[in-house]
Amino acid sequence: MMSLPKIVCFALLSLALGQLYQAASTETVSVCPTNFTRVADKCLLADNSWKNWYDSDRHCRSLNAGLLSIKNQTELKAIQEWLPVVWPYGTEFWTAGNKFGETKTLIDYYWQSTGEQALYLPWNQGQPTPASGDCLVLYASVSMSTGQMVMDKHLLTVKNCTQWAGHICQAPLQQFTTQLCLNPSAVYEAKVPV
Ligand SMILES: *[C@@H]1O[C@H](CO)[C@@H](O)[C@H](O)[C@H]1NC(C)=O
Ligand SMILES: *[C@@H]1O[C@H](CO)[C@@H](O)[C@H](O)[C@H]1NC(C)=O
Ligand SMILES: *[C@@H]1O[C@H](CO)[C@@H](O)[C@H](O)[C@H]1NC(C)=O
Repeated sequence: MMSLPKIVCFALLSLALGQLYQAASTETVSVCPTNFTRVADKCLLADNSWKNWYDSDRHCRSLNAGLLSIKNQTELKAIQEWLPVVWPYGTEFWTAGNKFGETKTLIDYYWQSTGEQALYLPWNQGQPTPASGDCLVLYASVSMSTGQMVMDKHLLTVKNCTQWAGHICQAPLQQFTTQLCLNPSAVYEAKVPV
């Protein structure tokens, strides 16, 4: 049978635990998988080893990721700023975009990695050219200006899926809540996936 002081102590500990839990559980941290970088609200990895679209798709899947889909202008701008930093002269990267199986004259493109129709399609000048292939790269043209290589911004271009380019994989941000846990001798922190 518990003595009175023990009961009080137990009650105080539960109260403390309850408060700590409440205070700590509001803290959520977002992290990217190893080798991925946070860009806008996604985790991205740009690989500049040239492969066809299918091998690139397989490579992303082997990392528990998928080829890049582009949601909107905010995300595109973040990608356009990040790419030249990681690959200064990387001109072409496969995205998840393709029109596999499309027979209509009005062409619809899909993001293979998410299954969604591509509604935001920031095309390069003169694009799309559906006859040149079924897959979409982010392509930046390079020109010489007073002896310096100048790379334009990366925008979408149609390309034959069997040809080669670099590629960009995407993975979702992993979210954890930080929780403080009490045991009789110590306070420690635990990361719990949401
Ligand atoms: C991260 O990249 C390094 C260097 O390319 C590689 O050796 C390592 O296996 C990668 N880690 C993961 C988890 O993919
Ligand atoms: C793009 O999507 C993100 C995340 O869904 C959102 O926060 C942002 O406001 C959107 N930007 C535009 C221009 O729609
Ligand atoms: C893609 O390239 C392959 C090999 O060069 C060719 O056989 C195929 O017809 C091309 N596909 C398209 C859609 O141009």
